[in-house]
Amino acid sequence: MSDELLAYLNGEYLPRDQACVPITDRGLLFGDSVYEVIPAYGGLPFRVRHHLNRLDRSLAAIRMHNPLAHRQWQAIFERLAQQLPGQDQSIYLQVTRGAYPVRNHVIPDPVVPNVLAFTSANPPRDFAKAQRGIKVITLEDIRWHRCDIKATTLLANVLARAQASEEGADEAILIRDGAAMEGTASNLFIVSNGLLITPPDSAELLPGITRDLVLELAGESGVPFAQAAIGAAELETADEVWLTSSTREIAAVVELNGRPVGSGAPGELWYRMDALFQACKERLRSGAECHDD
Ligand code: PDD
Repeated sequence: MSDELLAYLNGEYLPRDQACVPITDRGLLFGDSVYEVIPAYGGLPFRVRHHLNRLDRSLAAIRMHNPLAHRQWQAIFERLAQQLPGQDQSIYLQVTRGAYPVRNHVIPDPVVPNVLAFTSANPPRDFAKAQRGIKVITLEDIRWHRCDIKATTLLANVLARAQASEEGADEAILIRDGAAMEGTASNLFIVSNGLLITPPDSAELLPGITRDLVLELAGESGVPFAQAAIGAAELETADEVWLTSSTREIAAVVELNGRPVGSGAPGELWYRMDALFQACKERLRSGAECHDD
């Protein structure tokens, strides 16, 4: 089914299996590229402006300009998403620094980027599954010091996720200098004595779009929250632990390093925040973008 879907590549829409970049592409050779994953609910892209602003920041951080205007990106997302009308999807985009005849670490001049995007269907939200929560382990964060850039150089993340899987866990929370940073592909929240806490913005973690929305929703609904460092010991004793991302939404962690989190089931605040988040998605489906002015 997905092989019949069209992908976007440098201005064209092609069947996915025919959309190819050269083997000399710098994204392939050096991981010299950035990406975004944008959720679409009921076929409608969610929080697009936020994702495009983050793409601009990632590109600026790797010394590139955005090759397309936001309205051009928007048209691409809409065209891709229309292929799966009414379905929940993840729209993936990647901008690489392009392909050149000679493999050389030096940044070429001029740069001719490769720009690609495609969409994949996601199963519809399953509340019963969400309520079962996820299992997580902690691992040392061996990534670089620019995790705020959404770069495709994800080998450390991939290896951490492999270790989590081997140990029967769904995700790993990465610990740097004694503090919990984020998951391998998700942001971290804890609830401790009624306070919702997420690590502060820094070069050591990705400024997640879902995380931002959770903070907005907390602010609007009077949930006390703080951006503060979370020590590894504090994580172990938290009443609730959540991981957020465009693909996981707000996932309740029910087991951490083999021990139950709180009662071993999603906590009270998770139910409240999840309901607010789902309501946001419903507003999108009914034609109003949620918090996306
Ligand atoms: N990853 N931290 C990391 C390291 C991530 O890779 C992601 C998302 C997040 C959450 O960001 P957002 O809420 O904007 O999705 C945090 C995507 C989903 C991925 O790599 O597939």
